[in-house]
Amino acid sequence: MTNKRPRLLFSAFNEFVLSHHDHGGWRRPESRQLEFNQADYWIDLAKLLERAKFDFLFFADVLAPYDIYNGNRDAALRSGMQTPVNDPAVLIPILAHETENLGFVLTENILQEPPYTFARKLSTLDHLTNGRIAWNIVTSFLPGAGRNLGWTGLPSHDERYGRAEDYVNVVYKLWEASWEDDAVVADRERGVYADPAKIHRIDHVGPYYDVAGPHITQPSPQRTPYLFNAAASGRGIAFAGANAEVLFTSGGLKEAPESAARLRAAAVASGRKAEDVKIFGGFGLVLGSTTAEAIQLDQEVRESQILESILVKYSGFWQDDLGKYPLNASVAEILDSGAARGATASVLAGAADKDISFETFMRGAANHHTVGTPEQIVDEIVAWQDAGIDGLNLHYLVSPGTYEDFVEHVRPILVERGLMQEEYAPGTVREKATGLGPYLPASHPAQRARRALEEARSQDAAKPQESAIGVTSND
Ligand SMILES: Cc1cc2nc3c(=O)[nH]c(=O)nc-3n(C[C@H](O)[C@H](O)[C@H](O)COP(=O)(O)O)c2cc1C
Repeated sequence: MTNKRPRLLFSAFNEFVLSHHDHGGWRRPESRQLEFNQADYWIDLAKLLERAKFDFLFFADVLAPYDIYNGNRDAALRSGMQTPVNDPAVLIPILAHETENLGFVLTENILQEPPYTFARKLSTLDHLTNGRIAWNIVTSFLPGAGRNLGWTGLPSHDERYGRAEDYVNVVYKLWEASWEDDAVVADRERGVYADPAKIHRIDHVGPYYDVAGPHITQPSPQRTPYLFNAAASGRGIAFAGANAEVLFTSGGLKEAPESAARLRAAAVASGRKAEDVKIFGGFGLVLGSTTAEAIQLDQEVRESQILESILVKYSGFWQDDLGKYPLNASVAEILDSGAARGATASVLAGAADKDISFETFMRGAANHHTVGTPEQIVDEIVAWQDAGIDGLNLHYLVSPGTYEDFVEHVRPILVERGLMQEEYAPGTVREKATGLGPYLPASHPAQRARRALEEARSQDAAKPQESAIGVTSND
């Protein structure tokens, strides 16, 4: 008998769009991505993932067309690159109703809506999904999103993280410290639904948000949804280390050990335990029954890719208009010219072969996936685990084909080796992922905020006030 490995968590990386990271996989005849506006396409995907015991269906989100490439939105719209994009919060309840165990990760950026209404939305989703909702906390990177949300542009990186810190403090207080555990009485006989003395204002006064409360929704199965965050900058990693329960490595497998160690260190630096956080890597695959077949299929997938779509996306990620580099210039020529700066310069400097053209390099950059037989893919997944990661976010090159291939050919080997769960654990998505309870652990800042508010209230408890309707209220 083979020695079983610890299981990894698996997430299907998606966005409520035609084209997420596939750059044109939607053109392939077997793709169903053109059905993305229809619920059935997503229901079928969610059911497939649940049959295969995936932990999460992850929805990324953006609130503007990618508009850095060539200084406009045209190429994003032309190639369907993450535009148009529908609202995942509307889709998730439909998918939750069709499944029982799959978790749903909702990305919403902190500029999008006031923390008060956002907290209500997430509590509602947590109720409706029976505790299967996670929030991917993002601060946005598209200038257009800032313009669409009432700013003249995107607030600076520092200001966005400053806002994020204040924003999470508000929602933590609403989720954790507003309603006491036994505030809901639901007593038919007395006609009492809730005890107002156990439902408190939060009276948050912060640098960006002043919110009185109380939370307008009663506590949901997890109270605070399971928390995700992906960050790359120093400030971002410090924020993720303090707040997130799932954090993403930057780069690929080679960078994973250092990146994972840095993320865990950020959690420890903020008073949490290294094992309080799960570290995820990103992963894609093209599968064949032989290596030669896999390479042939990969070639076909690459041919369907739209170059513009690749340039649009990386212009956004690297915050640099890639339209200014000649496609036929070599990587070395671009580096020598000194034109490339920031992320573009460091990515180009890492190119193994600097004599290839910029176009060839970019087509390769868009193909951070493993090409091989199921056994080769499993070897790669084992290497990710050995690099210190706890889970993988699996992006598609063609949907649902990538997931169908994975489920049919890779999953059985993973299950046999202990790397993928055979059955779901009971409970909320936090319980399923961590094996612990439904709520945030005591070391999380939200629980610290809860304790601080409870303490302040118990000091006040000696002086209860008489409310206008004659019910004692301690808020
Ligand atoms: C797996 C993954 C998913 C992400 N999803 C989104 C997203 O849906 N929306 C978004 O605005 N940013 C998204 N990002 C970007 C990050 O939130 C973050 O802004 C980026 O990694 C830069 O890090 P920094 O904010 O520390 O500079 C994602 C990043 C990763 C690695």
